[in-house]
Formats: sequence, structure tokens, C-alpha cells
Amino acid sequence: MAAITRIDATCFTPDSELDLLFSPDIISLEVKSALHPDVHIRPLASTDYKRGHLSVLSVLTAAPDPGEAAWVSHFEALRASGSTYYTLVIVDKRTDRIAGVGTVFIERKFQRGLSCVGHIEDIAVDEKQQGKKLGLRIIQALTGISENSGAYKTILNCSDKNIPFYQKCGFEKKENEMAKYT
Ligand code: ACO
Repeated sequence: MAAITRIDATCFTPDSELDLLFSPDIISLEVKSALHPDVHIRPLASTDYKRGHLSVLSVLTAAPDPGEAAWVSHFEALRASGSTYYTLVIVDKRTDRIAGVGTVFIERKFQRGLSCVGHIEDIAVDEKQQGKKLGLRIIQALTGISENSGAYKTILNCSDKNIPFYQKCGFEKKENEMAKYT
């Protein structure tokens, strides 16, 4: 008997059955249609703790498990901030597991006519899923949300090794980062 190579697609949870961080309608249709049919891009959902959210983030930095209740409480705090935190995930539809994540945080300014700036943070793609343009699509979707929020620029910090990736995403090197760790 031939080996089964695909997991039943019915395990995928559609957006309509999820409690989402923000409306999926603000994610660029162009980005959605450029994705492979096996993956789906959507806002973070209140049940994504169970879909490997922290495991994907751990490819970027330490993401110790605070427990599900604390994770959900943090999700609710982000949502209560209203039009500020936009965390996206790319889900592998064959497993309903998260393959990639990313956030844009919208900072409201007093200058430039009460403008705002989008800060891209916490971009991570599962090691087995890297090199499939998921990172690129996450950055394109987050930049679209930032620009549609009225941001006059979208910025991020990264290591030297990731500079070529962000250049491929249309970003350019500008100024320096300063940090003071506690
Ligand atoms: N060096 C050179 N080119 C790169 C690199 C790299 N390190 N990473 C990706 N690229 C290129 C790809 O080859 C591709 O080029 P192409 O269009 O010519 O084929 C293009 O960039 C798009 O690459 P993707 O396939 O979309 O990249 P991927 O899905 O693997 O995601 C990412 C890239 C997010 C950096 C991933 O490797 C990752 O999760 N790394 C570990 C965590 C990390 O470093 N995250 C970024 C932190 S910075 C921040 O969060 C603001």
C-alpha cells in the first residue's frame, strides 16, 4: 500500500471558528493569493498556544512556556490595546500547526501631524519551513497593515546575518540600534 504523504486537511481550523486578535480582512489579498495552497495567513488566535506558537518563536530567542492560562491572558491584553498590536501567523493547513509568526506594533506620534510608525517585531519561521518565502509574505502582510494604519515608515532591528533577507523584502539599512539590557 502506498505511503500516506498528506495529513487529512480537515484538521485545519478556518478563521470563522477562531477567536482572532484582529479582523483577518485587513491582511493583503495579494499576499494571501501568493501563498502556497498548503498554508494560510491569519491573525493570531486565542487558541494558538496549542498550535505551537511558542515553539516557532523559540527559533528567534528564548520563549519559555508561561502556561496556557497566562498565554491567553497576554493575548487578551494585546487585544485590549486596540489597533496597536497586529500579530500574524502562517498555519500549515495539513497539520493546523503554526509555521511562521510576526508582529507589527503601531506607535502613535505627536509629530508629523499625529502620524504613526510601524515597528516590525518577532519574525520567526519554523526551521523545517524556512526558505519557502513564508518570512517574505509575513513581512509584506505586516508592512501592508502598517501602511494602511497611516504609518509614515515601517522599521525593524535585525542582526547582520538577516540584512540580506530584509533587503529582499524591500527594506534598507538606516542609522544604528542602541540597547541597554536589564
Ligand atoms: N541571508 C540571505 N538571504 C536570505 C536569508 C539570509 N539569512 N534569509 C532569507 N533570505 C532570502 C531568501 O533566499 C529569499 O530570497 P529569494 O527571493 O531570492 O529566493 C528571500 O530572502 C525570502 O526568504 P524567505 O524564504 O521568505 O525566508 P524564510 O521564510 O526562511 O524567513 C527568516 C527568513 C524569518 C529570517 C527565518 O530564516 C527565521 O525565522 N530565522 C530565525 C529567526 C530570525 O532570525 N528572525 C528574524 C529576526 S529580526 C526581527 O524579528 C525584526
